[in-house]
Amino acid sequence: MQKLNTLEQQSLSQIQAANALDELEQQRVTLLGKSGEITQLLKQLGGMSPEERKDFGQAVNVLKQKVQSALEERKEELETATLNKKLLAEKIDITLPAAPYRVGRMHPVSYVMEEVEGILSTLGFDPASGPEIETDFHNFTALNIPADHPARQEHDTFYLPDNAEGQKRVLRTHTSPVQIRTMQKFPPPLRIQAIGQVYRCDSDLTHTPQFQQVEGLAIDKDLTFGHLKGVLQTFLNRFFEKEIEMRMRPSYFPFTEPSAEVDIRCIFCSGNGCRVCKNTGWLEVLGSGMVHRNVLTHSGIDPNQWQGFAFGVGIGRLAMLKYGINDLRLFFESQQTFLQHFGKPSGLRP
Ligand code: PHE
Repeated sequence: MQKLNTLEQQSLSQIQAANALDELEQQRVTLLGKSGEITQLLKQLGGMSPEERKDFGQAVNVLKQKVQSALEERKEELETATLNKKLLAEKIDITLPAAPYRVGRMHPVSYVMEEVEGILSTLGFDPASGPEIETDFHNFTALNIPADHPARQEHDTFYLPDNAEGQKRVLRTHTSPVQIRTMQKFPPPLRIQAIGQVYRCDSDLTHTPQFQQVEGLAIDKDLTFGHLKGVLQTFLNRFFEKEIEMRMRPSYFPFTEPSAEVDIRCIFCSGNGCRVCKNTGWLEVLGSGMVHRNVLTHSGIDPNQWQGFAFGVGIGRLAMLKYGINDLRLFFESQQTFLQHFGKPSGLRP
């Protein structure tokens, strides 16, 4: 028993004196570990007589508990001390200026797409979409461009291997196939817009292999060329945020009849002639026309009952004109200076 008292005093004062967590752990092992002093004492109990065992056993267990709680208490003290020391050392100087970081901006093509979508939505054109990997049928044939049609050559098409059903596939060269997909799916009257990526094997100052278009399509019983002109005039005025002088020039698209190319009075020189309009005073902005009867028929719509108009606009072209950007390729080069200048602030403040 005397031995137990000495052990108790010794261990408790040692625990109290421990100055580091690893030192404390060492003490725990020496006392309570597999071959620790107290563990050894507990092992001796087996060889004792019942009376001896009763008193001694109780005493050892009390000692064990005291040592355990002393260890825990000291552990907490040491942990708090360590934490306090760390907190003191890691003091943050909140008067220092924050580290600067770059805030990204919305890409001009993305926000022009949003602007265009917003304007056409207020004019009643509901968003529609179609796949970028398109069948030859939807991209050409159904749009009144049969296999031997010369218009196919103008499209610089990226051809893909046939699909599992043996259908010819292409990367869509325009958003017009969405006209077909929508008319096949929904009955008229219809008023839809389709914005998205299109692809042509072409690259120079005003062409990139991937670019964006928006398609408009309206089908009803009595739509006329006048409605088309009205929609386009309103669209252009809203997009350029001023009264735009426009003209419609007879043109040709296989899927519209009659077809018209739409020009606007040059917004850089007001028609006096400059480099951008090549001294013509006019800028070509989009293609349009009355939907060809064959296109309606291919989409399962009776051309004797329904008629309508369609138009297709290059998003990059609109962005270049509105924001005075002279090289379409800049849109896709990810240059920081270009994006910081022409990108739209995200609303986040650095
Ligand atoms: N799809 C035509 C093009 O890419 C544009 C267009 C669309 C013309 C709709 C008329 C009607 O050039």
